[in-house]
Amino acid sequence: MKIITSTLALKTEFDEIQKTNFSLGLVPTMGALHEGHLSLIEDSQKNNSHTIVSIFVNPTQFNNPEDLLNYPKPIDSDISLLNSINCDYLFLPSIEEIYANDYLFPSINLGILDQIMEGKHRPGHFQGVCQIVYRLFNLIQPTNAYFGQKDFQQVAVIRFMSSFFNLPVKIISCKTMRDSRGLALSSRNLLLNPHEKENAYHIYQTLIFAKENKHLHTPKKLTQETIRFFHINQQLKLEYITIVNSNTLEELTEDWIEPSTICIVAYSGKTRLIDNLSLFDFDLT
Ligand code: PAJ
Repeated sequence: MKIITSTLALKTEFDEIQKTNFSLGLVPTMGALHEGHLSLIEDSQKNNSHTIVSIFVNPTQFNNPEDLLNYPKPIDSDISLLNSINCDYLFLPSIEEIYANDYLFPSINLGILDQIMEGKHRPGHFQGVCQIVYRLFNLIQPTNAYFGQKDFQQVAVIRFMSSFFNLPVKIISCKTMRDSRGLALSSRNLLLNPHEKENAYHIYQTLIFAKENKHLHTPKKLTQETIRFFHINQQLKLEYITIVNSNTLEELTEDWIEPSTICIVAYSGKTRLIDNLSLFDFDLT
């Protein structure tokens, strides 16, 4: 695997490469790689001649400085992992390389996407995500870019941004990878102690409760019932549970729309965990 750390080296590499039958899959990450990231990389490897993974803990998307400080950064094991799966390239830039003084991100009005759920609870977060993903798309010029359904609203934001700026990249979303008991894999799971991890399993149980009971209630009533179920566990702290139209992300209250998705954010200890589940398909991811 080639490790590229500068934007100049990146440009030289892809300028020189033979462009016939060439397609480049990009998997943007913040590192602390796990099976969820690997599933995106695998998808990219299957469908592109070359795959590049980026690891960059993007400061502009952290609205909480403590969260940025505590974010796990096991770079040596990440590199070994990427080598072991024959990844072609790792883009590992410094902050200065990405945000040089003269770099200006064209701002974007995300509308409702910035006002609900993650947009509402993490002010500025999606502007930061757009800033880095736009930058990566510009520097790397991938054919396809891979994102996890686990960050359901992030995928919607990136699709919106990409079409707003008319970027020549196909956005592909990949299903959520879970452990054997349903906990969505996340770099943040590394921060959980065994007790907190045990509690975190209740998040998936809550999503399953909603899916199993959706035929009994309106979306509004189901949300209330699901919140009640969530609170059976008194150790977790709920930030929000919302049921939305999967396409527009508008909150559902009285009537069901197919497809719809239930989204949840909860704290186990100090760790903020995010998950979601599509309510109308048979898949439990
Ligand atoms: P990060 O949290 O490292 O996630 C990188 C990608 O992996 C995202 O697209 C995320 O949705 C996906 N992913 C995470 N957990 C997953 C799981 N259990 N199953 C499947 N996919 C999963 O998301 C980010 O980084 C950043 O916001 C980023 C897009 C890199 C911009 O900085």
